[in-house]
Amino acid sequence: MYRTHNCGELRLTNVGEHVTISGWVQIAREFGSLTFVDVRDRYGITQLVFDRSQDADLCDLADTLGREFVIQASGTVRERSNKNPNRATGDIEIDAKTLTILNKSKVPPFTIEEETDGGDDLRMKYRYLDLRRPAVQRNIILRHEVAAETRKYLSEQGFLEIETPFLIKSTPEGARDFVVPSRMNEGQFYALPQSPQTFKQLLMVSGYDKYFQIVRCFRDEDLRADRQPEFTQIDCEMSFVTREDVLQTFEALLRHIMKTVKNIDLGEVERMAYDDAIRFYGIDKPDTRFEMKITELNELTQNKGFVVFDNAELVAGLCVEGAANYTRKQLDELTNWVKRPQIGAKGLVWVKCNADGSFNSSVKKFFTEEQSAEWAAKMGAKEGDLLLVISGEKDKTRKQLGQLRLELGNRLGLRKADEFKALWVLDFPLLEWDEELEHYHACHHPFTRPKDGYESIENIAEIKAEAYDLCLNGNEIAGGSIRIHERDLQEKMFELLGVGKEEAEEKFGFLMRAFEYGAPPHGGIAFGFDRLCALLGGQESIRDFIAFPKNNSGRDVMLNAPSPIDDLQYKELHIASAVEE
Ligand code: AMO
Repeated sequence: MYRTHNCGELRLTNVGEHVTISGWVQIAREFGSLTFVDVRDRYGITQLVFDRSQDADLCDLADTLGREFVIQASGTVRERSNKNPNRATGDIEIDAKTLTILNKSKVPPFTIEEETDGGDDLRMKYRYLDLRRPAVQRNIILRHEVAAETRKYLSEQGFLEIETPFLIKSTPEGARDFVVPSRMNEGQFYALPQSPQTFKQLLMVSGYDKYFQIVRCFRDEDLRADRQPEFTQIDCEMSFVTREDVLQTFEALLRHIMKTVKNIDLGEVERMAYDDAIRFYGIDKPDTRFEMKITELNELTQNKGFVVFDNAELVAGLCVEGAANYTRKQLDELTNWVKRPQIGAKGLVWVKCNADGSFNSSVKKFFTEEQSAEWAAKMGAKEGDLLLVISGEKDKTRKQLGQLRLELGNRLGLRKADEFKALWVLDFPLLEWDEELEHYHACHHPFTRPKDGYESIENIAEIKAEAYDLCLNGNEIAGGSIRIHERDLQEKMFELLGVGKEEAEEKFGFLMRAFEYGAPPHGGIAFGFDRLCALLGGQESIRDFIAFPKNNSGRDVMLNAPSPIDDLQYKELHIASAVEE
C-alpha cells in the first residue's frame, strides 16, 4: 500500500496513529539534528520530521531529498509544538520511521508553489509541472465541479447529453475553419466544428426535445486572453420554446452553478436591449457591476461656438463620482490614455464640479459656468464629481467612452472580482454590414430567427433577431437564439446574406431538407465553458482553466505543435509536401 492517508487529511484527531503517506517533496530543511520534509499532493502538504538522534541512516537518506522527489514515508502522527495556522494539516507532523524514494526528480525549472517564478513560456513548456501548483490545480478542480454540476442540473431538467461528430463540414460561426485532409477521399477535407449548431438543430427535428453537450469547438481566429483555438461550450437546444423559456432555463443553470460551486447567490439578472447597451455603455456586453452610464450631450453642447463639438456626430460623456479632485497630471494622463491608437479618441474634455458649487473646465473659453452646470444636471452629477466628454463619429465615440468607462471602473476599484452581475442582452440586429466583403453577414449565425414583423421593414439593416447573449461582469459567457425552422425562411435568409441558391444547397441542403420533415420550433444557447470557469475563479484569462492550452500564437509549446508531417503522410493525404513545392 502506497498510502493510508493523503497529504491533506491528517488532523489532531489522528495523533498517535501509525500512517503512511506518498507525495512530492515541496522542501527539505535541516535544523540541527532534525530534518523537516514537506510532502505535497493535490490534497495538501504534510510535514515529516526525521530525527538523527533516533535513526542516523534514515536522516542521511532524508538529507539527500531534492525538490519534487517522489517519496513514501511512514511514522506516527504527533501534535506540533510550533503550529502552522495557514495549513489545514498545520497542527500535526509525522514522526517518520521509514522513507522510500519512489522516484528522483531533476531540479524543476521554476518553483512549484502558489506564486511561481516561472515565465509564461517556461510554464507552458513544462505544463505538467505548472499543473502541480496548487493555484492551477484549484482552477482545474473548479472546472470539474462546474462540469459535474452542469451535467447534474441539466439531466435533472430532462436534457440528454448527446455527442456530435468532430469530422464534419463547415459550420458558419464567423471564424475560419480548421480542416483535416481525407486520405480516403482525394483532395477533400473535413472541417472541425466551430460549434455543433447544425447537429443540435437536427436532433430537435429528430424529436430529442432537450439536448446538451459539454463539447470542444474549434475556431481558427486571432487569440486573446479569453479565446483559445479549441475551447469548450456547454451547448444546449430545446424544442417548443419561446425566448422566455430559454432565458429562464439557462438563467437557472447559471444560478445553480454559482450556488453549488461557489456558494454565491446570483442576484437579479437584468435585461437590456442591444441598442441600449450600445447607447449607454458603448459595448454589447456591459459590465453592470457599476453605473457610470454614457450621457448624450449634443443639444447642450452644439452650436455654442466650439467647432470640435459642432462638427461631431455625437458629443457624450461620463460622470465620474467623486473625481473632481483629479490633478492636472491625472487628467493629462487620462487624455493621453484615450488618445492612444487602441482607443483612438481625438481628445478629452473635462469639467470639474467643485465642492463649493463652482465649475472648472478644459473648455472654459467656449462654455460658461452656467453651461457646465447644465451638462452636470443632465449627467446627474453632484458636487465633487468629474465629467469627461468625448466627441466624434457616433459609433466610434460610443465605443471610446465604453472603453474609458471600463478603464475608470478598474482604476476606481469598481470591478471587483468577487462580485457577480449577470445581464441578458436582447434584440441584437439580425444582420451586420461587412465593409470588406461588401455584403451582410449574420450577427449571430444564419440560423437565427428574425423578430416578428420583419417582413414589413424596408431597411433590412434594422431587422432585429431573436438572439440573446448572457454577460457576466462585462464578459460574454453565453449566446444563443430562437432558430428558423422553416425551409422557406431559411432560404430567404441565405438570400439576404448573399449566399447563392446552389451554394446554400451544397453547404446546408441537409438542414433545409430536414426542415421539410416536421421540424419543431426550437431554440438554444451555448455557454463559453472556459470563460465561465475563469470568471468563477476570479480571472479573465481562460488559459489557466484549461489543462493543456495553446499559447497566443496557437502553439502547444510542450508538444511543439503544430509541426511538419513526414513525406509519406503528405503523399497518403494527396497533398503536395513543402519539399515538392
Ligand atoms: P457563440 O459563437 O456565441 O455561439 O459561442 C458561444 C460562447 O462560446 C464562447 N466562445 C469562446 N470561448 C473561448 N474561446 C473562443 N475562441 C470562443 N468563441 C466563443 C463565448 C460565447 O458566448 N452555436 C452558437 C450558440 C447557439 O446559437 O446556440 C455559438 O457557438 O463565451
